[in-house]
Amino acid sequence: MSEIIAILNQKGGCGKTTTAVNLAAALALSDRNVLVIDMDPQGNATTGLGVEKNDQINTIYSVLSGQSTVEESIIQTSIPQLDLLPSNIDLSGAELELSKTIGPHSILKEAVDGYVDNYDYIFIDVPPSLGLLTLNSIVASDSVIIPIQAEFYALEGMADLIQAMDLVKTRLNSPSPIKGILLTLYDSRTRLGRDVYNNVKQYFGETEYIFKTTIPRNVKLAEAPSHGIPCILYDEECSGTEAYQKLAKEIIQMEGGGDNK
Ligand SMILES: Nc1ncnc2c1ncn2[C@@H]1O[C@H](COP(=O)(O)OP(=O)(O)OP(=O)(O)O)[C@@H](O)[C@H]1O
Ligand SMILES: [Mg+2]
Repeated sequence: MSEIIAILNQKGGCGKTTTAVNLAAALALSDRNVLVIDMDPQGNATTGLGVEKNDQINTIYSVLSGQSTVEESIIQTSIPQLDLLPSNIDLSGAELELSKTIGPHSILKEAVDGYVDNYDYIFIDVPPSLGLLTLNSIVASDSVIIPIQAEFYALEGMADLIQAMDLVKTRLNSPSPIKGILLTLYDSRTRLGRDVYNNVKQYFGETEYIFKTTIPRNVKLAEAPSHGIPCILYDEECSGTEAYQKLAKEIIQMEGGGDNK
């Protein structure tokens, strides 16, 4: 069974793209067929997976605007079993264009529907906003992962995010439950790290799953994208690679459903 997971948080720089790229890579290397859909006009996942954001490629924008199909737009990456649906700055105009169409929230869902079965996992890298690109990502997904950066303002804006998800669930009749909350840029040795973890637990702990795996701050994770490769190909043994491999295992353990608490 394939699963479409949006990596979601309107807060900028909390590790959405780093998670999409490196979790996808770890799962692909665990013999899963994986697609990353870059839904961010910044195109960071596209660059991070080694694809030039030039004009020659079909992008998610061309798919959403009906100029190309998903099949025509998918690019293979340096990791076997890991494909990319790239993005570039063209996508920044899509928000306005989409808003003028009928059913503007379900365009991504309709576009990917026929391709879902080719993959075990599809990760959508979502931009840092709660606009139409994000709502399309939630509607298209089966579940969401929310990366939360371990910092003082970590939970600011969380109520808005939950409200946006509730809106999609009730108004558009498209439930996309939280698969898990992921602590990123996390250091358990610092007071701040522990405080944020406790706050997240208080906020979500009763109702939502918090991944046992946390992602540490690791400079290799920040360096790998400039080489256009996931961290696992850049440094197989660093703490960042290890953390995303551990997260992939945790996700694999959830396969087949059941209660993951
Ligand atoms: N665990 C980590 N250790 C060190 N650096 C990290 C880590 N996670 C992310 N970074 C770096 O922090 C910056 C922001 O990360 P990333 O791009 O993944 O966040 P994002 O949520 O996708 O940002 P945006 O909201 O702009 O899309 C990047 O430079 C990235 O390389
Ligand atoms: Mg990003």
